[in-house]
Amino acid sequence: MQIVTSPRAMRAACKALQRVVPSQTIGLVPTMGALHEGHLSLVRASRQQCDRTVATIFVNPLQFGPNEDFTRYPRTFQQDCELLEAEGVDLLFAPASEEMYPAQMQTIVDVPEIGGRLDGASRQGHFRGVATVVCKLFNIIQPDRAFFGQKDAAQVAVLQAMVRDLNFDLELVVCPIVREANGLAMSSRNRYLSDEERKEAQALSRSLCSVQRAVAEGQRSVTTLRETLLHELAAAASLRVDYADVVDPNTLESMSELPASALVAVAAWVGQTRLIDNCIVHTEEVAL
Ligand code: PAF
Repeated sequence: MQIVTSPRAMRAACKALQRVVPSQTIGLVPTMGALHEGHLSLVRASRQQCDRTVATIFVNPLQFGPNEDFTRYPRTFQQDCELLEAEGVDLLFAPASEEMYPAQMQTIVDVPEIGGRLDGASRQGHFRGVATVVCKLFNIIQPDRAFFGQKDAAQVAVLQAMVRDLNFDLELVVCPIVREANGLAMSSRNRYLSDEERKEAQALSRSLCSVQRAVAEGQRSVTTLRETLLHELAAAASLRVDYADVVDPNTLESMSELPASALVAVAAWVGQTRLIDNCIVHTEEVAL
C-alpha cells in the first residue's frame, strides 16, 4: 500500500492509477482513523465494487467544535495502516492539517438547511467541516464511488445533497451499520467508554428496536414513536439525550405523519462520550 501525504502527490498518484488502465474504477473510503469493523466493511464493499481502493485518514479539525474531542480523538495510525494493508487498500492518503488547510484557504462548503438538523443542530458548524473536507477529498482523488456508513445518517444526507448540488460525477454508496454483539453501533468513540458506560450505551440500539417493533405491530403515530424512543432511553439513568426523532431520511426534517420510509435517529451522551445510532423503518412492503 502506497502512503501519500500531500494533496498534489495524491492527485498525481490517482491520475497514475487511471493512466495504467483508463477504464478502471476508483473507490474511496474516507476515515478519521481509529479503524474498526465498520470502516473495514466499507473497504470490503469498495474492493468488491471497484478496481482500486483508496482510503484516507485525516482527523479533520474543521468538523470539531471548540469544546469537542479533537485533541483526544483516538489516533492509531500504525495499526490502521496494517489493517488497511491487510484488506488490500491500494493507496492511503494521510495529509497533515496544514496541507489540507493552508493559511490562505478561504472556501467553505455549506449545506445550510440539512446541515443544521440532527447533529448539525447540536454541533454548530460540524457539517460545514465535513462537507468542506469531503469536497476536497473528492476533488483530489476523483473517485467513481465513495463509501460511507449508514451510522452517520445525517452526514450521508448532507453529502448526498452536496454531490447533487455541486454536480460531482460519482456515486455515494451507503453501507449498513456494523454492530457489536450487544447491539452497540461500532464507532471510534466506543473506546472512550468504561464497562459500565458500555452497558448504558446499549439503550440507544434498544430504543431503535422498540420503535421497529412498534411499527411492525402497526403503530403509525410519530408522537407515540418518539415517546417510545425517549421511554427506552430514560431507562438508562446516566444517559443524557441530545435528540431522539423520526425524520425524513433525505431532508432530515421532523415529521408528523409516518411516510413509507423514515429515519429513526438518536444521539445521547454517555458520560463524556456522545454516541449516535439510527435505523430506517418502512411502513409499506418494499418491492424486491
Ligand atoms: O465519517 C467520518 O469519519 C468523517 O466525518 C469523514 C467523512 C471522514 C470526514 O472527515
